[in-house]
Amino acid sequence: MITAETRRNVSNKVFCDGSRDYRWREMANLTGDQREKYVQGMFARIAWRYDRMNRLMTAGQDMRWRQEVIRRAALMPGCRLLDLGAGTGDLAAEAQRQYPSSRVTAADFTLEMMQAGKSKRESTITWSGADALHLPFPDETFEAVVSGFLLRNVSDITLALHEQQRVLKPGGQMVALDTTHPPKNLLSPLINFHLNKVIPTLGKLVTGEAEAYTYLPDSTQGFLTAEQLAGRLVEAGFRNVGFRRVMLGTVAIHWGKK
Ligand SMILES: C[S@@+](CC[C@H](N)C(=O)[O-])C[C@H]1O[C@@H](n2cnc3c(N)ncnc32)[C@H](O)[C@@H]1O
Repeated sequence: MITAETRRNVSNKVFCDGSRDYRWREMANLTGDQREKYVQGMFARIAWRYDRMNRLMTAGQDMRWRQEVIRRAALMPGCRLLDLGAGTGDLAAEAQRQYPSSRVTAADFTLEMMQAGKSKRESTITWSGADALHLPFPDETFEAVVSGFLLRNVSDITLALHEQQRVLKPGGQMVALDTTHPPKNLLSPLINFHLNKVIPTLGKLVTGEAEAYTYLPDSTQGFLTAEQLAGRLVEAGFRNVGFRRVMLGTVAIHWGKK
């Protein structure tokens, strides 16, 4: 549990240190409940400007990656898809666009993100308050489980992948989109400048929350490499595991079959 004492200690560091970035470097290292509370609070604050910032920082490319994620879910008519950590539901909406007869559930533990998503479109998406680590769905419910920029945020990746396995039907498909460690090459200085300077500055201008967009490169840095994540999928029991990098290697799409 996050306690008042923890909050005081963390925010004391801001005042003693004089650096707000320092606080968010700490946040990226939090574990368990503390991490979840901070992730929730952060997305609640940026919920209403989250989509605009996504389009800006990816130059609109995120919509193309979402199309690929949903294509890879390969749903048959009438099948069920879970968009986990759905936020404002862009993946869920894309699933409805590509598979109009599918039954789509969007689940997240930050209500403000789902409210922002519900308010921007008319749809038949079923919205559900849910923790990715303890899904409120019976075993073998969905033909596909997809997620966008979720896995880097969860406090227990093994448990999150096991939950996705559990709620998938045999033969079901999981597809995950997330930021990843970019490969080191000649473009690295440019990429690092974009991730560590341009995105937080843009984030502050668009959402008023520079910290949330400092958390993005920090949490990516603290997350598994694309190869390691593929290994975790295999360990969790997925087969036919693969991944593809996009956006100069800074974003990856992973997939696996139950
Ligand atoms: C970066 S946003 C991504 C939103 C959306 N999927 C997208 O592609 O734009 C991450 C979302 O994951 C949610 N999230 C993080 N940890 C979660 C957890 N343990 N259970 C459910 N949702 C979680 C956050 O509330 C947030 O809405």
